[in-house]
Amino acid sequence: MTTSSASGTEPGVSRRRLLLSGAAGLGAAGLGAAGGFALGAATATAGSGSPALPAVGAAVVPFHGTHQAGIELHPQAHTSYLAFDLAPSADRDGIRRMLRLISSDAERLTAGQPALADTEPELALTPARLTVTVGFGPGLVDRVDPGARPAWLAPLPAFSVDRLEPRWSGGDLLLEVAADDPMSIAHASRMLVKDIRRFASIRWRQDGFRNASGTTPAGATQRNLFGQLDGTANPAPGSEAFARVVWRTRADPAWLVGGTSFVLRRIAMNLDTWDELDRGSREQAVGRRLDTGAPLSGDREFDVPDLEARNALGLPAISAVSHLARARSADGAPQIMRRGYNYDLTAGGGTDAGLLFGSMQADPLAQFVPIQQRLAEVDLLNLWTTPIGSAVFAIPPGCGPGGYVGETLV
Ligand code: HEM
Repeated sequence: MTTSSASGTEPGVSRRRLLLSGAAGLGAAGLGAAGGFALGAATATAGSGSPALPAVGAAVVPFHGTHQAGIELHPQAHTSYLAFDLAPSADRDGIRRMLRLISSDAERLTAGQPALADTEPELALTPARLTVTVGFGPGLVDRVDPGARPAWLAPLPAFSVDRLEPRWSGGDLLLEVAADDPMSIAHASRMLVKDIRRFASIRWRQDGFRNASGTTPAGATQRNLFGQLDGTANPAPGSEAFARVVWRTRADPAWLVGGTSFVLRRIAMNLDTWDELDRGSREQAVGRRLDTGAPLSGDREFDVPDLEARNALGLPAISAVSHLARARSADGAPQIMRRGYNYDLTAGGGTDAGLLFGSMQADPLAQFVPIQQRLAEVDLLNLWTTPIGSAVFAIPPGCGPGGYVGETLV
């Protein structure tokens, strides 16, 4: 995945020059997953005389590609997950029409251009790395062709820690609309919901945030609301490990080759009882230091955790019941690609905050479920966390110009 700029960053600088020189200025916001930048044609259409856009607002992630946009990149600062229920009347033809509309407007909006019937076209001109990623729930695939639904595209098995609420679970269709600017997300979501409303209605919406662009070093691991560095042991975008963990290569089913699966768990975090813990106990719960994120067996964030290491008292440095010890695979290789966004809806009546825990993997039953099963059995972190929402989606591959996401199924 690469990024480019949709408009100028400095008055008086030609767009072409900016595109060729602006990469360095993109900083945290514009770092391409594989370190590259697309220097393609600029697409934003700010009127002449209007002030040029800063790099964060102008940054563009291309919509077209083998894989859908919005997956293999350093996550944007904000996201909106929107799940829809299909209308009873939405048949295969209707679903095809809907997916064409979504793809065509997503292509425009992510390039910094107004949607086809845009009522507020000015709001489209600051894409800020806007991406729109489309996912299919079990209901949509069944509506098109029940024989095309892989066995894993179904609700996850029940876990003992689950306290799932229907209002945060399930869905026939998913749109993840993410960007470094919530204005860009609000506008794009509104345009896309207008496209969809003849065919489906919103089931739930979950909004999440990370650090704003430019507030932490480019590519740095983000913190969750417990204050922990969260995402250290993740495959890096552009790496061989990322491809192995995330992308589907086997033609079972053929329509998902180049796609992936997405599990979204809404996990409530009890910040009030977490506050009562001393720092040492907090670090023991995960097995990592809070300041540097280093494993309790090491010194630096990316030191490989040593589950056999002992501390000065001769006790295990990393507790066997810590989150790290329980979540880690036997050989230490990542099995899933985690993408956490924080949420905080506290509004009186107690804290309502937590993590939108997204997990991407080629096969959720083989990769996600065994980890969640281990964590449900034993994990110190369970004392402060409760899964309250759960949904599974198939993420079809990307499409080329003139095509639409989902064409391989529909
Ligand atoms: C609110 C809930 C959760 C919190 C606060 C949390 C937090 C953390 C933290 C701080 C780390 C260590 C740093 C890192 O490698 O990212 C971590 C690691 C990890 N977590 Fe979670 N996590 C949560 C839920 C989950 C869930 C639901 C799963 C999977 C079912 C999961 C799987 C993992 C894995 C696989 C690792 C990496 C272990 C390793 O290989 O070292 N976590 N988590």
